[in-house]
Amino acid sequence: MLRAERIFKSFGALQVTKDVSLEVPTGRRHAIIGPNGAGKTTLFNLLAGELLPDEGRILIGEQDVTRFAPDRRARRGLSRSFQKNNLFLSGTVRDNLVLADIVAQGYGFHFWRRLSDNRSAQEKTAAIAEQIGLAELLDHGVSELSYGAQRQLEVGLALMAAPKVLLLDEPTSGMSPEETGRMLQLIDDLPRDLAVLLIEHDMDLVFSHADRITVLNYGEILMEGTPQEVRGSDIVQETYLGGKTAQEQC
Ligand SMILES: Nc1ncnc2c1ncn2[C@@H]1O[C@H](COP(=O)(O)OP(=O)(O)OP(=O)(O)O)[C@@H](O)[C@H]1O
Ligand SMILES: [Mg+2]
Repeated sequence: MLRAERIFKSFGALQVTKDVSLEVPTGRRHAIIGPNGAGKTTLFNLLAGELLPDEGRILIGEQDVTRFAPDRRARRGLSRSFQKNNLFLSGTVRDNLVLADIVAQGYGFHFWRRLSDNRSAQEKTAAIAEQIGLAELLDHGVSELSYGAQRQLEVGLALMAAPKVLLLDEPTSGMSPEETGRMLQLIDDLPRDLAVLLIEHDMDLVFSHADRITVLNYGEILMEGTPQEVRGSDIVQETYLGGKTAQEQC
């Protein structure tokens, strides 16, 4: 569904992405792990189209989207949520979802009124709110929501584009255990044919919720494999987990 082929990216002299290739088929739960500054978010920015690679190709299905802007990629089925909050804080949950729908469809702001009155848009908004566990809070102001609920809404914004591939950048960062549990449930309950590419620091979560893991280190792929392979890998133990086993790390 999503394929990156031999991607390179530098910021000046700093090479942040080095020869990264990745394949995310339909339905895959794929995690990207790696220390701070390993280039995980940069890779997402490259995949989503916020950054242009210096070299390499990105494909969604059979379509080469390497030079497509983010909104064009989104219309091809690639959606993302951000590591930092990206919400319209003075609006309600519903406003944010409707706005995401407008953006996803490439409409200008003047379509706002028409779209928010539109019945199918309202049904879609209600369905996504249900999916992200915020159905009861549709008309609540975003600034009143808990941090965890705001992050759930972020996932909802990405889902409004009806993606085939969803990129989630540290969806549980800064969350309480209870909020983390809710987010995990949300991710687990996503449609099975949706491919999810997830950046995550929590090893427990990665090993139990991903079926494939890529380990990035200094912009390079240190290894890719199943959770079992990554957990058992000497090179990952030494380089990333500092010689500790994954369980000790947690
Ligand atoms: N726009 C930019 N210009 C210059 N350097 C950048 C830019 N974006 C990221 N970097 C640098 O690239 C490196 C990788 O950053 P990136 O944010 O991709 O790491 P990360 O793996 O997501 O880290 P974290 O776990 O802290 O989120 C860092 O050294 C960062 O300072
Ligand atoms: Mg990051």
